[in-house]
Amino acid sequence: TPKNINYVEEINRLRKEKNAIILAHYYQEDAIQDIADFVGDSLALAQKAATTNADIIVFAGVHFMAETAKILNPTKKVLLPDLKAGCSLADSCPPSEFAAFKKKHPNHIVVSYVNTSAEIKALTDIVCTSSNAEKIINSIPKDQPIIFAPDRNLGAWLVKKTGRDMVLWDGACMVHEAFSIDKILTLYAENPGAEIIAHPESEAHLLKVAKYVGSTSGLLNYVKTSKATTFIVATEVGILHKMRQESPDKILIPAPVEDDSCNCSECFYMKMNTMKKLYLCLKHELPFVEVDKELSKKALVSIERMLELSK
Ligand code: 13P
Ligand code: SF4
Repeated sequence: TPKNINYVEEINRLRKEKNAIILAHYYQEDAIQDIADFVGDSLALAQKAATTNADIIVFAGVHFMAETAKILNPTKKVLLPDLKAGCSLADSCPPSEFAAFKKKHPNHIVVSYVNTSAEIKALTDIVCTSSNAEKIINSIPKDQPIIFAPDRNLGAWLVKKTGRDMVLWDGACMVHEAFSIDKILTLYAENPGAEIIAHPESEAHLLKVAKYVGSTSGLLNYVKTSKATTFIVATEVGILHKMRQESPDKILIPAPVEDDSCNCSECFYMKMNTMKKLYLCLKHELPFVEVDKELSKKALVSIERMLELSK
């Protein structure tokens, strides 16, 4: 292999040559966000994947995101720079256990967060993301019981927001549960005027003290439009890159985590993708995401319901 590959140049050349689009999530490393054709939250990324004319989709994100793109585009090649880029939240909902849980609660509509495997989506009536969850739940008739999976924190938050008494699956994201409420409150006391903002996958005690709770795109938009100058940001730290670009005059403090010896506010899975792996996957068109045809058809129904309700 030749040394000194200029990844930016090579990625630019290859994506043009192959008519490929690079979609990246806000938690990706800075260089990947900067080279992507589109950076977004999980809803915007799914919407983009549903409408792109590109022949190849390179998904710089985690497996469930690329899998959703593949379900929406069964005839296209969907590449993921590292197939091992999973999600602790998606892993917290194994399909066989979820199928049994569903059986215990007959007559319930299943609303699942997009952070799930295709198998869970196939067992789901309507998929949602943190951007549209409230709207989707509110679209369901009041007397209709609901199962919400897999995130217990987002679920509890939605129960509070919508007043719907949903049955919750007991799953969680390890990044959003790593924050230290005590350290956050100390930081807050030291920075009067700062605003605490959080992703709804965070725990209830944190959401309770947050001035704003929302999806990654919601958080970006809030910082841009709020009159405050300082923000304590409780979500994966990768988002600070776009926040600094969009709101250069604001002071952004990443929320501290419980265990100082780890980089727990970094999603280990999101960070598995690198510029080198992005270049290699575009070059070799490997690794690609595959979904069983029958499974894909079933999962598509719940994803399409979400897209229809999110217009
Ligand atoms: P968003 O939909 O808010 O981008 O969140 C995705 C995610 O994985 C949060 O951990
Ligand atoms: Fe999954 Fe959490 Fe990483 Fe988001 S931050 S991809 S929910 S593990």
